[in-house]
Amino acid sequence: MTENTALVHCVGITKYFGGVQALDSFSIDLHPGEIVALVGDNGAGKSTFVKILSGIYPPDDGEIWIGDAKVENLNPGRARALGIETVYQHLSLADNLGAAANVMLGQEPLRFRIGPLRVIDEKQALAEAQRRIGEVGASLDDYAIPVRSLSGGQRQAVAIARALVKANRLIMFDEPTAALGVRQTKAALDLIQRVAGQGVAVIIISHNLDDVFAVADRVVALRQGQTTLDSPLAGTDREEIVACMMGLSFQR
Ligand SMILES: Nc1ncnc2c1ncn2[C@@H]1O[C@H](COP(=O)(O)OP(=O)(O)OP(=O)(O)O)[C@@H](O)[C@H]1O
Ligand SMILES: [Mg+2]
Repeated sequence: MTENTALVHCVGITKYFGGVQALDSFSIDLHPGEIVALVGDNGAGKSTFVKILSGIYPPDDGEIWIGDAKVENLNPGRARALGIETVYQHLSLADNLGAAANVMLGQEPLRFRIGPLRVIDEKQALAEAQRRIGEVGASLDDYAIPVRSLSGGQRQAVAIARALVKANRLIMFDEPTAALGVRQTKAALDLIQRVAGQGVAVIIISHNLDDVFAVADRVVALRQGQTTLDSPLAGTDREEIVACMMGLSFQR
C-alpha cells in the first residue's frame, strides 16, 4: 500500500438480510478531508453501509479498497487498525467512567508494567485526554465525573475525541445530531468540520438537510440500497436531494 493514501474506494457493495436487499451494488469513493453526506429515507441502507465499512457486517458482494490495497474479511478490529472509526447516535460511551477514562480506554499510558500488572500513568492520561477533547473544541470542568452526567453535546465531544484517537483515515457519523439541541448541534457540526480539516475522510448520515448543507462537500443519496445522487453540494439543491431520496423524477 502506498503511504498516506487515505482514500477509501467501495465498489458494488451488496447486502441482503434474508429476503431484504439493504444494499444493491452501492459504490462510493471517499477522499481525505472531504465530508460526504449520506442521505436517504428510513431503510435506504445507510446504516448498513456504515456497519459494513466498520467491519460489523460482511458484504455479500462487492469490494472495499483502501488506497491500492483490497481489504478482505474486514472485522471491527481490522477496521479500527485501518484507521476507520464510527460515532453512532447512541454513543457507546462507558457511562460510569469519566471523560478522560473514556477517551483513553484501552490506550492508557503506562507508568510501568510488571508481568500482567499494568500501572497507568494517570497524570499523563488526564493531560492526553484533555488535549484530545480540547482538539475537538470542547473543554470540561471535570474529566473524572461519570460521563452520564455530561450534556449531550459534551458526550458527543468525548465520543468524537475517542474515535479520533484512532481514526486517521475515515470517520463515520451515523445521525450524530439527532439527539442534540440547536447549540449542541452546531458544536457537533463544528467538530465534524474540524475533523475533516485534519485530513480524515468523513461520512455524515443525517435526516436533517440543514446539517447536510452546513457541512457537506458532497451528497450521496441512497434509495432502496441504490445510489440516486452523487454530487458536489454546490452542484445540487434541496429539491433535487429530496427528489432523489424519494425516488421521484427531477427536472431542473
Ligand atoms: N440486522 C438486520 N437484520 C435484518 N434486516 C436488517 C438489519 N439491518 C438492516 N436491515 C434492513 O435493511 C434495510 C436497510 O436498513 P438500514 O438500517 O441500513 O437503513 P437506514 O438507511 O440506516 O435507515 P434509517 O434512516 O431508518 O436509519 C432495512 O430494510 C432494514 O430493515
Ligand atoms: Mg440508519
